[in-house]
Amino acid sequence: PSSHIPVIAIDGPTASGKGTVAQKVAQHLGFHYLDSGALYRLTALSVLRRNTPLDDEHALAKAAEHLHCHFNGAHIFLANEDVTNDIRAEEVGNMASKIAAIPTVRQALYGLQLSFRQPPGLVADGRDMGTVIFPHAGLKVFLTASVEARAQRRYKQLIDKGFSANMEDLSKDLTERDARDSNRSSAPLKAAEGAHLLDTSAMTADQAVEQVLSWYASAKSS
Ligand code: DC
Repeated sequence: PSSHIPVIAIDGPTASGKGTVAQKVAQHLGFHYLDSGALYRLTALSVLRRNTPLDDEHALAKAAEHLHCHFNGAHIFLANEDVTNDIRAEEVGNMASKIAAIPTVRQALYGLQLSFRQPPGLVADGRDMGTVIFPHAGLKVFLTASVEARAQRRYKQLIDKGFSANMEDLSKDLTERDARDSNRSSAPLKAAEGAHLLDTSAMTADQAVEQVLSWYASAKSS
């Protein structure tokens, strides 16, 4: 059964660098990678496009349940459209954070997330990888970084993707999103029991990757 397939769970707030770190760790180990935030963003994009009202929980859950998405390398598709860049827009991230507070939406995405656990292993990043989706992960990491460091990273990410951005709005967005993700009652953002804490404010991505790999090596041999 899949419970023997190793999982590394990496959780943390938005723009903490967890996506970059998780992808590099997966690459290094030859593991699969799950960007669970992308599933919430895909659902958000699909409901934004259909103008589904936020209070229609049934329709939101249906959208999550019938998400026609696939991943191909670094590319993410909704139906057959490449939406790799579209889902990174702040508007989509904010909507993702709102619908992610709805338990039936989270429930609808549960099985899909589990299906990413394939040999030889999985690195999964999100908010509740270590607490809810993979509570028995062999290694759990909670990545944090200061609001300033995160706003700077998000700024660079958005500009690189051709979006416009300003630091003040971004810091405000991040702070609001942290509060929403941390204070919701369903699977709030928090460090899992036994998670290693890693503050990446003053670290390069490669330094963070090295730390995670070294924790994984010790976890495996213990
Ligand atoms: O990691 P991200 O910024 O791409 O995630 C977008 C939103 O999706 C985030 O604000 C909260 C939600 N999310 C979640 O609730 N649980 C996850 N495992 C991943 C993301």
